[in-house]
Parts: sequence; structure tokens; C-alpha cells
Amino acid sequence: MIRADKIYKLYNDNVILNNINVQVEKSEFVFLVGQNGAGKSTLLKMIYRDVLPTKGEVFVNNVNVTRLKRRSIPLLRRSIGVVFQDYKLLKYKTVAENVAFALEVLEKDPKFIKRQVLQVLDLVGLLKKKDEKPSALSGGEQQKVSIARALVNNPQILIADEPTGNLDPDTSWEVMQLLDKINEQRKTTVLVATHDKAIVDSMRKRVVEISGGRILRDEILGGYR
Ligand SMILES: Nc1ncnc2c1ncn2[C@@H]1O[C@H](COP(=O)(O)OP(=O)(O)OP(=O)(O)O)[C@@H](O)[C@H]1O
Ligand SMILES: [Mg+2]
Repeated sequence: MIRADKIYKLYNDNVILNNINVQVEKSEFVFLVGQNGAGKSTLLKMIYRDVLPTKGEVFVNNVNVTRLKRRSIPLLRRSIGVVFQDYKLLKYKTVAENVAFALEVLEKDPKFIKRQVLQVLDLVGLLKKKDEKPSALSGGEQQKVSIARALVNNPQILIADEPTGNLDPDTSWEVMQLLDKINEQRKTTVLVATHDKAIVDSMRKRVVEISGGRILRDEILGGYR
């Protein structure tokens, strides 16, 4: 489903990624770990074509994302939901409006939008908060809204770049359990960049660690691949 092939990335003559090869199958759940500046976000951004590699290629569903024409980028991004550390919700819109917005820009039928919005808000457990503004929600709830927004278009892939970076340990755990549930129930391929060692160690998923521009380890906890 996702294949990064011999990826090199230079920023101002600094080698950030140095021959990265990684493949993720449909419905996999993968943690991407590594120190600050290891290149986790850079690698994730290559998947949704926010960053181009200096050398090498990235394929999503056998489409060479690296060679994609500018006009085809929106179509790629419709198959990928993205969640960030800082939620990026629109503060003057309600929870439901924030989630609906992702479909409104695609000019979907209003009835369809309503149904989808209620369905994903139910999935993340925030139906009762649908008419609140983000400022009335806790950090964990805001992150769940941003996850709902990322899912409302039923993407095949969900990318979460440090989704728990601003959350306390209990709330972080809740958000990761939610990502796990989405992976299980919807068979969404989930990629999570995180520094949260406790969570990574206890969830027993595949872990890809980047260090010094290379893949230092790639294993499923509890059994090597
Ligand atoms: N647009 C850019 N221009 C120049 N350098 C960049 C750019 N984006 C990232 N970098 C550099 O590339 C390196 C990798 O950055 P990246 O954000 O991918 O790391 P990361 O693993 O996500 O780190 P963190 O854990 O802090 O989020 C860093 O040294 C960063 O300063
Ligand atoms: Mg990062």
C-alpha cells in the first residue's frame, strides 16, 4: 500500500534521510519513532506529497507520488487523513462544522455530509459535543475531533504526526486506543510518529525507528519481522 524506495533527503547539505526503504501493507498499524530531528515528519510528509525526496521514490497504492502532477495531488490527499500534534481546528466553527468542512470543500451532498459527520463523531465518542466550539473541549477531545475530521472522507490511510504530543499520559493512551480501534474496525492503515515510549512498548505494534538517517530497527514487538 505504501512503499518508500531508496529515499534520500538533503536539507541545506545536511543528510536527513539516507537510503530509507520501508513498506507498509494495507491495514497495518506502524509506529515511527526516533529522536527530535530524525526525519519522521519529513518521511510522513513525503507520503502525502508535502515534501519531495532529494532522491528515491514513494508509492501509494502503486502510484508514484514523487512523480505526481500538481493537479493530481488533491486526489492523493483524499485517500490520506492527517492528524497533527496541534489539532488545527477552526475556532469559530463548531465540532460538527469542523468535521463537515472537509466534505463541504468536496461539494458533497448535504445529507451525505450530515450522515458521515454523525457517524465519525460517534466513532470518536464525541456526538454529544457536536455543537460545542473547540475552545470548550479538552485537548484530548480536540484531538479526537481532528481524528474524526481526518476520517470523515473514509481515507485508506491515516497519518498521525505526534498526535499525543500535547496530552497527558492517560489522555494519550485514550487517543492511541482510538487509533487502534480505527485500524481494527475500518481496516484503515495507520502510521503514527511518536516519542511516547511507554505507549509504543505496551501496544505491541510494528515499530520503525529512524536514527542517523537510516532505519535502525523495524520489528513487530513480541516477534521480529
Ligand atoms: N523545510 C525544511 N528546511 C530545512 N530543514 C528542515 C526542513 N524541515 C525539516 N528540516 C530539518 O530536517 C530534520 C528532520 O526534521 P523532521 O521534522 O522530519 O524531524 P522529526 O523526526 O519529525 O523531529 P521531531 O521529533 O522533533 O518532530 C531536522 O533537522 C529539521 O531541522
Ligand atoms: Mg516531527
